[in-house]
Amino acid sequence: MCGIVGYVGSKQAEAVVVEGLRRLEYRGYDSAGIALVHDGELVWDKRAGKLANLDKALAEDALPASSTGIGHTRWATHGAPTDRNAHPHLGATGRVALVHNGIIENFAVLRDELVAQGHEMLSETDTEVAAHLVECALEDGTTLTEAMQAVCGRLAGAFTLVAVDGRDPDRVVAARRNSPLVVGIGDGENFIASDVAAFIEHTRDALELGQDQVVTITRDDVTVTDFEGRPAQAGSYRPYHVDWDLSAAEKGGFDWFMRKEIHEQPGAITDSMLGRHDAAGALQLDELRITEEELRNVDKIILVGCGTANYAGMVAKYAIEHWTRIPCEVELAHEFRYRDPILTRDTLVVAISQSGETADTLMAIRHAREQRSKVLAICNTNGSTIPRESDAVIYTHAGPEIGVASTKGFMTQLVACYLLGLYLAQVRGTKYGDEIAQVVRELEQMPLHVQRLLDAAEQVNQLARELFSARSVLFLGRHTGFPIALEGALKLKELAYIHAEGFAAGELKHGPIALVEDRLPVFCIVPPQGRDHLHDKMVSGIQEVRARGARTIVLAEEGDEEVTPYADDLIRLPRVPTLLQPMVAVVPLQLFACELATRMGNDVDQPRNLAKSVTVE
Ligand code: M6R
Repeated sequence: MCGIVGYVGSKQAEAVVVEGLRRLEYRGYDSAGIALVHDGELVWDKRAGKLANLDKALAEDALPASSTGIGHTRWATHGAPTDRNAHPHLGATGRVALVHNGIIENFAVLRDELVAQGHEMLSETDTEVAAHLVECALEDGTTLTEAMQAVCGRLAGAFTLVAVDGRDPDRVVAARRNSPLVVGIGDGENFIASDVAAFIEHTRDALELGQDQVVTITRDDVTVTDFEGRPAQAGSYRPYHVDWDLSAAEKGGFDWFMRKEIHEQPGAITDSMLGRHDAAGALQLDELRITEEELRNVDKIILVGCGTANYAGMVAKYAIEHWTRIPCEVELAHEFRYRDPILTRDTLVVAISQSGETADTLMAIRHAREQRSKVLAICNTNGSTIPRESDAVIYTHAGPEIGVASTKGFMTQLVACYLLGLYLAQVRGTKYGDEIAQVVRELEQMPLHVQRLLDAAEQVNQLARELFSARSVLFLGRHTGFPIALEGALKLKELAYIHAEGFAAGELKHGPIALVEDRLPVFCIVPPQGRDHLHDKMVSGIQEVRARGARTIVLAEEGDEEVTPYADDLIRLPRVPTLLQPMVAVVPLQLFACELATRMGNDVDQPRNLAKSVTVE
């Protein structure tokens, strides 16, 4: 939800800022803009549409040299994606330029106030109000830092703001409340960004800011205060070193980040398992900051997340309940607090979020903590807000996920959920050590299984080519296959923009089977054979849709010959336990969505209307 960059140093700010925006474009691509401080004033350009439009404009009409600047890539909230609404926004006299991520909830009141004072607003955005206010606050001789502090106190809602003052060439000031902001610490240069990817080619040393803080960067200094201007308390912001480098933020020869990220999954699983069990298979989650006694007292788990992360939670419920017998609920984060959930000190709320910045999930955990429940985050982004505000965290080690559609993020969320379930079983003694070790060994085999599926990607790609003109696709699954059916459908909606729905196969006959018509492609995820008749019931479901003319694309494990007569297309899955099958079943569905969208000519990494990190509620 909007990418923000700020720079002060000795390099050409335009190049640094635009390159930073390129790496943050996954956060929003409705418009892009840049403002630089040059010779005592501001110079700027901003264009609706993708960054390429700004690139073109700058190539035709270069901005003058400058070593201080800010930039923005937008996911529109207030006002259509036009040049006029693009950021940066300027104050009334053009002295201040400001970019913003989030929503200023009281902007209408502030805007009326400014208009009554004679200010002319040029855009429909909430952001422009902040630009005017900061500039007004500067007029009585304060610094940009003081002006920012004063204005933040008046704003309601969620915001990251970054501003420059045309008369102050060596300073960029930013502020954050409930919206991401990191500082990059360089040598004779400093950076501000929504995400470390923006400055990873310059420095891997970062500073994670706390809530309601204002940061001022100059070439050689970084100062953090609260909104009242008091120096920030030690510990309220945290320096850290980024453990991945520039190559992780580049496509590495693939056509899309998404395809690269699908192919990175074997390594991501390995990295997420690393150091989390001993040689005998006993779990050791050293980073978990909840005591064993507290975990023994847990009497209910609620898993919250959105989109794909919610589906990871659905898979986790099957595994955690099976291994620990602790009742688990799975809830969409944005629904959670509004239903007044029953939360006690013994409820463990597990918040799953790749970005760690999803506003809906953040608000859910705040609600849970207010009710004194313990919150454990499963997160891929060091320095992000959700782990910071949780009691405990299990970091997934997927590396940066840049494609808007989550793939390796999901895969490693599954790993973390399994590790959590096994750890709880170990601590509470609901599984024997050798049973836990057996699952750990099976998890360790997963990179090989996933790699085999990736090596066979051509079969799925060919299928995507054949189904190029499909206008609707269904996905069926049972048990852990059900969330994977939902995930397969979500991937297709996001990327191919076609009707796609996932169902629990048992639900078909209660209504959705009416959708089935001749040659409708239906993906069917078949559970491994031999447990609770689950497999046989799924096979019956496949027969039912096929009898009504569907083209069945069956994902079944190697050696399962029972399904063969009912499969128009058969994708073989490695043999794994039912609870772990999501890790293999999802891979062909990811590949299919990526390839189909590619064939359709869609932008796979930046699908329409979406943004990677949803930082507004
Ligand atoms: O960063 P998060 O995991 O909190 O994001 C949650 C969802 O917005 C995200 O999974 C979304 O559904 C993806 N675009 C799915 O591919």
